[in-house]
Amino acid sequence: MSDDKAGVYPVPAEWAHAKIDAAGYREMYRRSVEDPHGFWTEHGRRIDWIKPFTRTGDWSFDAEHFGIAWFADGTLNVSANCLDRHLATRGEQVAILWEPDDPAGEGRSLTYRALHDEVCRFANALKSLGAGKGSRITLYMPMIPETTVAMLACARIGAIHSVVFAGFSPEALAGRIQDCDSTIVITADEGRRGGKTVPLRANVDEALTHCNSVEHVIVVRHTGGGGAPKEDGREHDYAALVAAASPDCPPEEMAAEDPLFILYTSGSTGKPKGVLHTSGGYLVWAAMTHEIVFDYRAPEVYWCAADVGWVTGHSYIVYGPLANGATSLMFEGVPNWPDASRVWQVVDKHRVTIFYGAPTMLRALMREGDQWVARTERSSLRLLGSVGEPINPEAWEWYHKVVGGGRCPIVDTWWQTETGGHMITPLPGATALKPGSATLPFFGVVPELVDAEGKLLEGAAEGNLVLATSWPGQMRTVWGDHARFFQTYFSAYPGKYFTGDGCRRDADGYYWITGRVDDVINVSGHRMGTAEVESALVAHPKVAEAAVVGMPHAVKGQGIYAYVTLNAGETGDEALRAELVRWVRHEIGPIAAPDAVQFAPGLPKTRSGKIMRRILRKIAEGEVGSLGDTSTLADPKVVDDLVANRVPAA
Ligand code: PRX
Repeated sequence: MSDDKAGVYPVPAEWAHAKIDAAGYREMYRRSVEDPHGFWTEHGRRIDWIKPFTRTGDWSFDAEHFGIAWFADGTLNVSANCLDRHLATRGEQVAILWEPDDPAGEGRSLTYRALHDEVCRFANALKSLGAGKGSRITLYMPMIPETTVAMLACARIGAIHSVVFAGFSPEALAGRIQDCDSTIVITADEGRRGGKTVPLRANVDEALTHCNSVEHVIVVRHTGGGGAPKEDGREHDYAALVAAASPDCPPEEMAAEDPLFILYTSGSTGKPKGVLHTSGGYLVWAAMTHEIVFDYRAPEVYWCAADVGWVTGHSYIVYGPLANGATSLMFEGVPNWPDASRVWQVVDKHRVTIFYGAPTMLRALMREGDQWVARTERSSLRLLGSVGEPINPEAWEWYHKVVGGGRCPIVDTWWQTETGGHMITPLPGATALKPGSATLPFFGVVPELVDAEGKLLEGAAEGNLVLATSWPGQMRTVWGDHARFFQTYFSAYPGKYFTGDGCRRDADGYYWITGRVDDVINVSGHRMGTAEVESALVAHPKVAEAAVVGMPHAVKGQGIYAYVTLNAGETGDEALRAELVRWVRHEIGPIAAPDAVQFAPGLPKTRSGKIMRRILRKIAEGEVGSLGDTSTLADPKVVDDLVANRVPAA
């Protein structure tokens, strides 16, 4: 798909003024890897420290001395960095610019001063409910300003937030509350998306029937639907708490390595991992990448169109932009409602200069035709960003020409929940672009390609992407399971962090991410572990066994293809197929709903009983002519049946 012989887009002349040009990038990169202590001593000072650090990176990826710390002897408060330090210079500047779902609805904006006031009050309210340093607080919230307030209020008192994407089911929410024993859940009565409401509080109620750690539930009254909070000692009204609380809340002094948040993400096993990020290194990374990769200049209006329930929302709606004193636009709605022009209308309405979105959204809008874009101006845009999955060159060209009018560089940013922020990405004033390539490493990032045996590949090559050194934004552990952290990321290729991605490096040293090489599927830029979907399927009373793989999907990038073996006596018909899709939606959430369900009398297994996923992937991809060697299967005939009964995507 990706081809480095396709067009190269040099840095446009208007970008000659950028903070970092090509020579600047090369020099800074060299210094970042040759003198990391000097480099990070300088850049660690981008944020305000209460007690300055003297140490920078203290880390080892080796089993014996395994550990990761950055700026470890410094202390700070993340919320003070995002709020207090801007009050003197930009207190009246808008911090959060909120665009509601309904284009005719009333928007809201919070200045840095107003945000500071509300965060302090809500932080005091959380304290009055017993929260403090190290408490875990789960957020199950729509895209509204109160979500940012809640995150920063946690940071202010040293509580650890765990934001659970509001599209997850009550079951999935319950698992994430239980895993970190949250004592407080913050939610809203309902969310709004594309003209529909989402019953958040009702979902929390259902989840809480399985969770006994939770002592308090705080409800933001957003739509007014679903009744008032009960005020029964457990349920509280957000607005009442804020109104009653004092606006004076000095920030808690936190060590650089104190946890800031947990964010659950799918991996190769059934249970999502609680990715833990800490305070100092994470904030340095989020702030530095936000400023440099987006060439951000306050007070421009910057829009990251992700949901705050994913890491992109954490780092690039909340922490990075607010640390940099940005005006960060927060959008409650969806890109194609009321029509396929909405995103670009919002750009025009708020004079957005930097827009950051996912390829899946671009592909969906591209299908609707250029006329939806053409009826808007988009003259305020100067930079476009892409994140979450490989961007196919066709979508890239469309983004560049149709959306950006050929004027705006595109930063295709490769990174992960685990990395905290951008890792391989162009810098708009420094990097010539190749559509489909995430291009070159950010400062301090040392990507390497290895083959399956771990042999280092030099020059132009394709292999597994590993990172040879630590960086400040790196995750520090899996919540409650440090052994799993080491096992997942550092055991496959000793001494290196394994990303789980395949990647090609071309003759110019540009990196082209080819997608996951593990059992993770990237659906619409969201990670879904195949094992998680499989365990949901086998929980259905009629299902004996299930195997899930990715399949190509024109809009989502990858879709979910499920092979299901039923219990004896059950019949696989259309009704059961629809029921299983509904079942998975209910168990995990709509993003996990299979796009194709194939009933299979048997799955291809080796004689030792291991499912041969390679074969299942090929069949799902429609590449039935290249199944490879099937002679080692216990029963090679099952493959014929699978091929004969392959189903098209829904
Ligand atoms: O496979 C890569 C893909 O998304 C994975 C990380 O997913 P998640 O932790 O949910 O974070 C998404 C937002 C950062 C990666 O392992 N990915 C992310 N960005 C890109 C990408 N693949 C190709 N190009 C990208 N720009």
